[in-house]
Amino acid sequence: MKKLLASIAIILTALVACKQNQKQAARTFDGPAYLNAELPIDERVEDALSRMTTEEKVAILHAQSKFSSAGVPRLGIPELWHTDGPHGIRPEVLWDEWDQAGWTNDSCTAFPALINLAATWDRDLSRLYGRSIGEEARYREKDILLGPGINMGRTPLNGRTFEYMGEDPYLAGKLVVPYVQGVQSQNVAACVKHFAVNNQETRRTETNSIVDDRTLYEIYLPAFKAAVVEGGAWAIMGSYNLWNGTYNCHNDRLLNQILKGEWGFDGVVISDWGGCRDDDEAITGGLDIEMGTWTDGLRSAASNGYDLYHLANPYLERLRDGRASEDILNDKARRVLRTIFRTSMSPVQNFGSFTSPEHFAAARKIAAEGIVLLKNDGILPLRVSEGGKIVVVGENAYKMMVVGGGSSNLKTKYEIIPIDALKEAFAGKAEVIWERGYVGDVTTDYNRVVTGQKLEDPRSPAKLIADAVAAAKDADVVIFIGGLNKSEGQDNEGTDRKDILLPYGQEKVIEALAEANPRLVVVNISGSPVAMPWEGKARAIVQGWYGGSESGHALADVLTGAVNPSGKLPFTIPYSLADGPLKTERQYPGILEKGSDKWQEYYDEGIFIGYRWYDTKGIKPQYAFGHGLSYTDFTYSGAALDKSTMTEDGTIHVSVNVSNSGIYDGAEVVQLYISDPECSVERPAKELKGFEKVFIKVGETTTVGFDIKAEDLSYFDAAAHKWVAEKGEFKVLIGSASDDIRATLSFRLQ
Ligand code: GLC
Repeated sequence: MKKLLASIAIILTALVACKQNQKQAARTFDGPAYLNAELPIDERVEDALSRMTTEEKVAILHAQSKFSSAGVPRLGIPELWHTDGPHGIRPEVLWDEWDQAGWTNDSCTAFPALINLAATWDRDLSRLYGRSIGEEARYREKDILLGPGINMGRTPLNGRTFEYMGEDPYLAGKLVVPYVQGVQSQNVAACVKHFAVNNQETRRTETNSIVDDRTLYEIYLPAFKAAVVEGGAWAIMGSYNLWNGTYNCHNDRLLNQILKGEWGFDGVVISDWGGCRDDDEAITGGLDIEMGTWTDGLRSAASNGYDLYHLANPYLERLRDGRASEDILNDKARRVLRTIFRTSMSPVQNFGSFTSPEHFAAARKIAAEGIVLLKNDGILPLRVSEGGKIVVVGENAYKMMVVGGGSSNLKTKYEIIPIDALKEAFAGKAEVIWERGYVGDVTTDYNRVVTGQKLEDPRSPAKLIADAVAAAKDADVVIFIGGLNKSEGQDNEGTDRKDILLPYGQEKVIEALAEANPRLVVVNISGSPVAMPWEGKARAIVQGWYGGSESGHALADVLTGAVNPSGKLPFTIPYSLADGPLKTERQYPGILEKGSDKWQEYYDEGIFIGYRWYDTKGIKPQYAFGHGLSYTDFTYSGAALDKSTMTEDGTIHVSVNVSNSGIYDGAEVVQLYISDPECSVERPAKELKGFEKVFIKVGETTTVGFDIKAEDLSYFDAAAHKWVAEKGEFKVLIGSASDDIRATLSFRLQ
């Protein structure tokens, strides 16, 4: 009986619950449409717009604090929070100052510099990176991530090379797409920067880049176009410089005609901080959110002077007296509202995560996969006998690198430095000693993010070298860890380098160490190319990067062989700067011409930057674009095309077998370049048009395939304003690097 009553009770409860649910389901959403998360975003935008006053529409078009732009308080539409940067979530900044807010809960995961990500040539890792940093931004309740940066490596001197993805538009374009999609999977907008032809830091706010259309469309736009058209980027940051005479934060041709017109961009254009320079152009030139403007007319901001912004009171005045159109105002406001509905008011709510083990593991994996083995006679991976002695020399084995570099400066939960990771890796097996070797940069406080390290050293350069040599003499192996850093004149926003040699007398240290002990490995940690005239002194050379919180572990993983290196150079390392394409002042850093207060910079080299220059001019670089060794060997065979002629609208399939013929499992980046020997215009000797990273176990073989389409064969005909694939012979070059071609095939385009 009891059981019967109990089951009846259960059935009755279920019936009541079901009734309630039906009632709830029947309850339609009775709030305003813009709050109805089930409606399409553009319906919500239109509803919100219809309820807003002119003043409210203008208010959401500009900053209200250093890193936020207004919402609509009356309607319960939240403000937008912007945050640097491309490598991690910047520590909280004061409302109206650049200074740190001093929060104690904003120490983030520092991910590797984007150049490090580029060196992985791995689309999946780029997506992992974007998702992970998107989770950190979402957790910190930021709606717009001010990154990634994808400006092309026109000069190796560019101070922000470390923040970008190298010298090739195809590589950057293919990697930026998954990064953007990863970020935006967390309803955080990626704000791809700096649009466009912003390829140096010298006088970045006063330089006019003079670039012809073919160069623009073939080199400087493709990665941005991929981010928008393939990646679906929700935000773009205008750059500080001018292009063909107009500031890029409100350049009508660049923003309205190309970005919003040709590419159909439906997101927001945000100015770089202080990049908006003119009332009228700000209205008609395609800018949607004005940030960081210097409001006292000089070069600083009047306190809380946000009503003085170009898109603030001056815009209101023009709207009220009929000089400005409501249509443009509504277009701007729609784009901002769309961004709010895509992020903080997204129908899909994410809550992110912050400094999770998964994020640190992702940082370590990406950092390690991007490390490039430039040279190795077999001394790597390190094999040190029991009780052996490893001597590590160099400032970059110790100096923390997550800090500095400008706006990408981070306060991280922790940073594993190389010397600690190596001690950890060899604990109980070998003695690991560190010698300073040289004193480079002793900065430990970057915009009030302090490392706590003590870098001063009273010893003279000679003493530092003598001490290092003394320790190195009887070592089983000597590892020099040097390179550049994130301070002024190095890999740092706002300044360019003066040359591409190692600074601080490091060459002398390398030479002295090689003299003392030929078992020398050199690790260059930098974010930009460093020439290596001392290359013959080292038995192995590793290009390490600013690897973020886990950089030390990542480097140790590669040096010990725990990770088999698979990185490939995303830029060329020339023997000397003079070998490069920039030969004149007018090319770089620009010249002052009479009658103008702007510096004019002529991109005379056109499309011939990076390997496009070195290859075509027959100038051998020290290490080529796409170069990177493994601890194992890869053999290529059976390269074939599925047809010998291709039609304009057809494709050609290329396949090649890659075997791991060495002794370690490893990953290889198979690269595909196109060459167009019969062409009516000058073209580069080769252009990257495909790459696949494949992991292959020892003794196994993988078949890698590529589909080539007419767009992969085309050059941009500026006069006709269209892409052209000329009929005739084309060559397909398959290789392990741009200077290590393993198979050449040809076909005809009919
Ligand atoms: C800086 C940088 C930009 C950054 C912004 C906000 O000047 O150019 O990359 O996102 O201002 O810090």
